[in-house]
Amino acid sequence: METVNQLLGSIKDVGRDAVRGGYSRAVYSTPELDLRQWFIEQAQQRGLGVETDRNGIIWAWWGKPQDGALVTGSHLDSVPGGGAFDGPLGVASALTAVDVLVSRGLEPGRSLAITVFPEEEGSRFGVACLGSRLLTGAIDVDKALNLRDVDGNTFADVARRNGLDPRHVGPDPEAMARIGDFVELHVEQGKGLGQGGPAIAVGSSILGHGRWKLSVSGQGNHAGTTLMADRADPMVAAAQIVVAVRDTAAGQPDARATVGRLTPVPGGTNVIASRVDLWLDARHPDDAVTAQLIESIYSAAREIAAGEGCAVTLTEESYSDTVHFDPVLSRRIGELLPGAPVLATGAGHDAGVLAGHVPSAMLFVRNPSGISHSPEEYVADEDASAGAAALADVLEGLL
Ligand code: GLV
Ligand code: MN
Ligand code: MN
Ligand code: MN
Repeated sequence: METVNQLLGSIKDVGRDAVRGGYSRAVYSTPELDLRQWFIEQAQQRGLGVETDRNGIIWAWWGKPQDGALVTGSHLDSVPGGGAFDGPLGVASALTAVDVLVSRGLEPGRSLAITVFPEEEGSRFGVACLGSRLLTGAIDVDKALNLRDVDGNTFADVARRNGLDPRHVGPDPEAMARIGDFVELHVEQGKGLGQGGPAIAVGSSILGHGRWKLSVSGQGNHAGTTLMADRADPMVAAAQIVVAVRDTAAGQPDARATVGRLTPVPGGTNVIASRVDLWLDARHPDDAVTAQLIESIYSAAREIAAGEGCAVTLTEESYSDTVHFDPVLSRRIGELLPGAPVLATGAGHDAGVLAGHVPSAMLFVRNPSGISHSPEEYVADEDASAGAAALADVLEGLL
């Protein structure tokens, strides 16, 4: 029986990013496919029945597939240059929890499935939790199929190349009926669990969050021959827009707004860009406040762009309201983990998408610095073990 730390150790070299540091495991890239294969083998070694559904979600069944099952799981894809735990901790802990329940001789009252969701991070196709959004119908299927990665591949093409039939991608009521309750264990991504106290918390809510694309267009030109006074440089506008994003969010309690990705087109050192695309991630508990925040940012961006002789457009790419996890399920989990604090999170999760449809809950495992989406994300071995043990206790109590 492998511990959760041994399981994580067995994948520690998959998808390391020598340039960015940490891991780059974009959905359906070689490393993410390697991890999916690793998961399937681990599940089969445990005698679990593995199937991949029409949206590319892997299900590993302990017991027969049935409606109303208890389901736990997370994801194996990562952000570019991400940490070792965001996603894989929940998957490895689920495998370990099954080992613990088998070793306890548990006779479950219902089946248990471990799920692996594709494209949780949205780092390849831009929409986070794409697998669970497709499963639940939270994204329009045509919109999803037409999403493109940076190389111009559509999600439809990539799905087809990975054995899915694009005609069958989308809402899957039969699969949804199988989820009686969903529990996701995840590394904590803030500083909610300090040293010395409990290592595991029960999730309460996920901050409303969304992604918007700002496209600033100007006049592409020569860096050497174009006088400073003659330019309409979208990069100069973009730089000011980034500051406006920060300042607008800083003036709004509880708001977070980030430009984590910016692409100049065509992107040459001696080229004044003709266009700069910026992706904005904004979060706030109240969707009306988020809408106001986006409007203020867009209005500032229009003024900045005009001042530089440029123009700007804004497109919403995805949005998820604040989610509160199921109170009954979360209270039951709290009873199974006496002393575990209750924590809200600013990070999105497949459990948040599922929460609109089936009772869902989360467990968080201490991350002392709170750093995540970074190679420095960290979970101590003993806390990972405590997390897997807590998950086993929770699953046993719910089965
Ligand atoms: C996903 O991890 C997100 O919250 O962006
Ligand atoms: Mn995650
Ligand atoms: Mn993440
Ligand atoms: Mn996430």
